[in-house]
Amino acid sequence: MCGIVGYLGPKQAAPILLDGLRRLEYRGYDSAGLAVRDGAGDPVVVRAKGRLRILAEKTNGGDALPGNIGIGHTRWATHGEPSEANAHPHISLDASVVGVHNGIIENYQELREKLINNGYTYYSQTDTEVAVNLVDYYLKKYKVGPIDALAKTMVRVRGTYALAVMFRDFPGEIYAARKDSPLIIGQGENEMFLASDVPAILDRTRDVYYMGNLEMARVRQDGVTFFDLNGDAVPKPLTHIEWDAAAAEKGEFEHFMMKEIHEQPRAVSDTLHSFLRGGQEEAGIDLSDIGLPDERLKEFDSVLFVACGSAYHVGMIGQYVLEDLAGIPVRVELASEFRYRNLPVLPKTLCVVISQSGETADSLAALREAKARGLTTLGIVNVIGSSIARESDHVMHTLAGPEIAVATTKAFSAQLIACYILSIAMGRARGNLTDGAASQLTKELCALPGKIERSLEDKERIQWFATKFSGHRDAFFIGRGLDYVACMEGSLKMKEISYVHSEAYAAGELKHGTISLIEEGTLVVCVMTQSELFPKTLSNAMEVQSRGGYLMGLTSYGNYSLEDTADFVVYTPKTDPHFTVSLSIIPLQLMAYYVAVAKGVDIDKPRNLAKSVTVE
Ligand code: M6R
Repeated sequence: MCGIVGYLGPKQAAPILLDGLRRLEYRGYDSAGLAVRDGAGDPVVVRAKGRLRILAEKTNGGDALPGNIGIGHTRWATHGEPSEANAHPHISLDASVVGVHNGIIENYQELREKLINNGYTYYSQTDTEVAVNLVDYYLKKYKVGPIDALAKTMVRVRGTYALAVMFRDFPGEIYAARKDSPLIIGQGENEMFLASDVPAILDRTRDVYYMGNLEMARVRQDGVTFFDLNGDAVPKPLTHIEWDAAAAEKGEFEHFMMKEIHEQPRAVSDTLHSFLRGGQEEAGIDLSDIGLPDERLKEFDSVLFVACGSAYHVGMIGQYVLEDLAGIPVRVELASEFRYRNLPVLPKTLCVVISQSGETADSLAALREAKARGLTTLGIVNVIGSSIARESDHVMHTLAGPEIAVATTKAFSAQLIACYILSIAMGRARGNLTDGAASQLTKELCALPGKIERSLEDKERIQWFATKFSGHRDAFFIGRGLDYVACMEGSLKMKEISYVHSEAYAAGELKHGTISLIEEGTLVVCVMTQSELFPKTLSNAMEVQSRGGYLMGLTSYGNYSLEDTADFVVYTPKTDPHFTVSLSIIPLQLMAYYVAVAKGVDIDKPRNLAKSVTVE
């Protein structure tokens, strides 16, 4: 979604802002803009529809905008079409206030009317212009300073926002306000930064403050002060980010997605070892550091996974594995549905919210709903300091590092590990798994990074196959059990980055309707890694093939009989049946990637999509 950057320091602001915006491009956007001020002069605003390149051309790479203080923005349209007029920054009626915004002001229509009645006029269709004018209105009506005006605005608006604002009468300062949309403040040597996400400023500083919900900040070149809604100062720790700037660069790879696919062995290994006692395989899994020792884990009598998109697929896999290893009833819900339904939940339910970004609006709302219903919550989150990480009772951090490509790969794999760990720990705590069985499963988990590495070695064959099929308009993914969930994730990857229509079907369901779509040459990817289900799924594969479908089989080494049925077969190493998706997903990610390469589309920033979905 939208990206915000800000700078105050001795250097020229605009090139730094443009650079920061470039690093936030992965969030998705359709227009961009800058507001820069030189000393006490009025901010100069430049906006452009389309790619950042256009804004850079308009400002000569930022050189044409003098001044050491500024804010910048990439917009992902919600209210009003993508256009120069709707792009941020927005300016209040008499240019006293200029601001950028990420999020949605839900009651903006009502506020717009109210301000029109007070003499305000508008040049854009955005909710942001309304918010900026509301700040201006309170500033003048109550003759207060920026913090009070912002606080009054925050009390009056409904919705979500991260706001960065400059006030004409307060040179040398940028103000910020936050509710539910992320915003961080970076502290450098005699310079300060604002950003929606760490990668925007990682090459300039690794010391950041995470703004809390309903907090404001006054940022000056020499530091920042945080305030609550009452205007009282809020102390806040400075966090040192462990990733280095290279973690957020493409390096030798053509796309972030491919780099991140190759980072999966590392992401899996780092995540796994962070939950092993002393980092040692022999010492076993230990969740007491996150407040979930065995005595606590055995108190729960059900588990509810809530998430969106790929993270929801992880929840589905968590359901299969947890039910089997821990013998506990598990439900999995789409966060966007859970929050609007009255799902009966047992009081001793552990609600697990899975989110890479930790900022997905629906997942965050579901977390709050679960807390309001008195459930204990566990966040499985990649971004440290994110809203879901901060608001969950317990947190399992996945150590995937920054994930830039919109299509998730390494964070998905790391989330799977967190679910496996939770399942083994719960299984042991509930007496469903003996210590011996738990340690055997842990040993198998420790072998996964090497096996993922091996799965990546087959990429040339997959590229050949994917290129051959890149002209296809449809693809079907079929499988049973965990293979079916792998299909759902593989199909989502295919849709989101290569724009090929695809559907995932439980193999046994195909003949209840969908098989009518199979005709000569239809591509069907059949995932068959579960040995118990192999013969059943093989029958479904044959049904497809006898109707002319072109069959790609995906199975484990050893199941060579599939060669007799499928037109093309990909193998993954064998592992415990609970963990097969960690391996079968690799060829499916590669397949989607290479189809997208062959089609020449923008892989890291697919059309219409955003990395972090901070609106409902
Ligand atoms: O940041 P989150 O894990 O909460 O994001 C959830 C989904 O938006 C995300 O998994 C999305 O489906 C991915 N783009 C899929 O690749």
